[in-house]
Amino acid sequence: MKLLRVLNGEILDTPPVWLMRQAGRYLPEYLATRAQAGDFISLCLNPALAAEVTLQPIRRYGFDAAILFSDILILPMALGQGLRFAEGEGPLMPPLEAVSALKPEGAAKIYAPVMETVARLRADLPRETALIGFAGAPATVACYMMDGKGGKYPRTLALAYDNPAFVRDTVNLLVEATIGYLQAQVDAGADCVMLFESHGGIFPPAQFRAYVIAPTRRIVDALKTANPGLRIIGFPRLCGLMLAEYVRDTGVDAVGLDTVTDPAAAIAACPPGTVFQGNLDPLVLKAGGQALDDAATGLLRAFAGERHIFNLGHGITPDVPPAHVAQLMNVISRASKTL
Ligand code: CP3
Repeated sequence: MKLLRVLNGEILDTPPVWLMRQAGRYLPEYLATRAQAGDFISLCLNPALAAEVTLQPIRRYGFDAAILFSDILILPMALGQGLRFAEGEGPLMPPLEAVSALKPEGAAKIYAPVMETVARLRADLPRETALIGFAGAPATVACYMMDGKGGKYPRTLALAYDNPAFVRDTVNLLVEATIGYLQAQVDAGADCVMLFESHGGIFPPAQFRAYVIAPTRRIVDALKTANPGLRIIGFPRLCGLMLAEYVRDTGVDAVGLDTVTDPAAAIAACPPGTVFQGNLDPLVLKAGGQALDDAATGLLRAFAGERHIFNLGHGITPDVPPAHVAQLMNVISRASKTL
């Protein structure tokens, strides 16, 4: 598997490719399967249909990795927090009032269908296609749980000063729950795992260390102790100058770069040998044409000689024409031969 070779430190002429949100609303076959499931959460908890939508982009484009189709908010839902997806509004939860409202003992039973999806996928995927399991990192999941919706997380940020014990206890509970959730995915057949720290970048440095770096380190240590060869990708989106410290102190095997991070600056800042994943702008994928060719070629050049997994800097948006993804795959295979 090309993805695992790079995660194990090899430098390849043509990087492995996959795209965040590669299964999603830009694909007509996804919309058809989601309609069959009824709604998004039902789709996440239906092993046959969740496996089907995970496979759809692999069939179309032959990506080097499939990412389990689920959502980072399925874990808090399994812990007992309400969750619904309102059309056009994104995820909504009743804001968490006390850690005691969460019921970690019941979670595994509720997320069991996700593990069945993983097992089906590992059986159905081509042998060379890596299966990525994932979870939201604790700080990011805590932001959704405390504010109840996506945005700037004003309640979470205020609570970090007004009631730090509440934030700390929630994050600690999520660390334990996430270790169990990811271990279950590994047991079911995931080849590697990714931690989405999409919103941890809102915290000032001292809180970033307490809520992002230290909890991630605990998850990485626990998973690697139990599974010595396991490779873990971290995606600390919008973390700015905390990037190098995140890489050094969490122990992740690879770091996902967001859209606004300059590859050369990241390479210069991070320890030698760092594995990078990213970071094409999803908007240039939407634009297509020469702009897409130039941006993709530029990215390949920027990461030439590095350990690189080609990806976007954030998820594909629903308005991306599927033909542009095919164009991207062509550019990567052509450009890599001539660079
Ligand atoms: O990447 C993949 O293909 C795997 C599946 C996946 C989804 N969400 C499917 C999804 C993964 C890995 C995620 C992670 C996720 N979910 C994150 C971290 C990555 C990021 O985007 O920063 C976050 C923050 C969430 C929470 C979430 N779920 C939001 C904010 C939304 C609404 C987004 C939107 O564009 O409307 C979701 C819903 C969601 N998760 C969709 C998909 C395909 C769209 C649901 C639909 O079909 O209507």
